[in-house]
Amino acid sequence: MSLIYPGQFETVIKLRDGTEALVRPLKPSEDKDKLFEMYSTLSKETNYYRFLNYQPVTRWIVEQWCDVNYDDKMTILAIVKENGRERIIADSRYYLDKTTGEAEIAIVVHDDYQGKGIGTKLLAYTIEVARKMGVKKLYAFLSPTNRRIIHVVKTLGFTVKWVFDIGEYRADLPLQ
Ligand SMILES: CC(C)(COP(=O)(O)OP(=O)(O)OC[C@H]1O[C@@H](n2cnc3c(N)ncnc32)[C@H](O)[C@@H]1OP(=O)(O)O)[C@@H](O)C(=O)NCCC(=O)NCCS
Repeated sequence: MSLIYPGQFETVIKLRDGTEALVRPLKPSEDKDKLFEMYSTLSKETNYYRFLNYQPVTRWIVEQWCDVNYDDKMTILAIVKENGRERIIADSRYYLDKTTGEAEIAIVVHDDYQGKGIGTKLLAYTIEVARKMGVKKLYAFLSPTNRRIIHVVKTLGFTVKWVFDIGEYRADLPLQ
């Protein structure tokens, strides 16, 4: 289990409006408050689409989400500066099952920053991180009414299939 911060995964991404976002792995010691601020101010729809069910957000839950190890629990954040202050605007993460080499991936972009290209770019970047980390396959479950993420994952090469039993789409992307 790796706990060494992977600084090689830091980069900068430009949003469609020219804003620059620092993209880097989550740092549990620094990011808890800012992550709570992001998750606790999402709209109900964004929260629902992220978790496929409305998920009340508490500080305790956000602390659990900060429990990364840069190995089988990886989170990549997008951060902008607003009035000289850092704000987390997106969270992309995967959880790897080491027995299969397959990882479930999920992403959320704060409502204030949706539609500016960050979701597509951050997900593409997380895919590259996963590939470099040796993940064999990424998959995600998506709400059938979430046309935006279905469009994004198809753009990035995922195959999207309807799973009748659970009433959701499943998106798959083999990496090796
Ligand atoms: C889905 C999400 C991650 C996308 O991030 P984003 O930054 O808003 O998306 P982008 O700006 O990168 O791209 C959105 C794309 O969807 C397209 N789109 C928007 N609404 C659409 C719709 N109703 N139907 C089809 N495509 C749509 C846009 O045209 C754009 O595509 P383009 O770049 O080819 O023009 C973000 O909206 C989000 O966090 N939603 C709530 C949480 C969620 O759904 N998470 C996914 C579950 S894992």
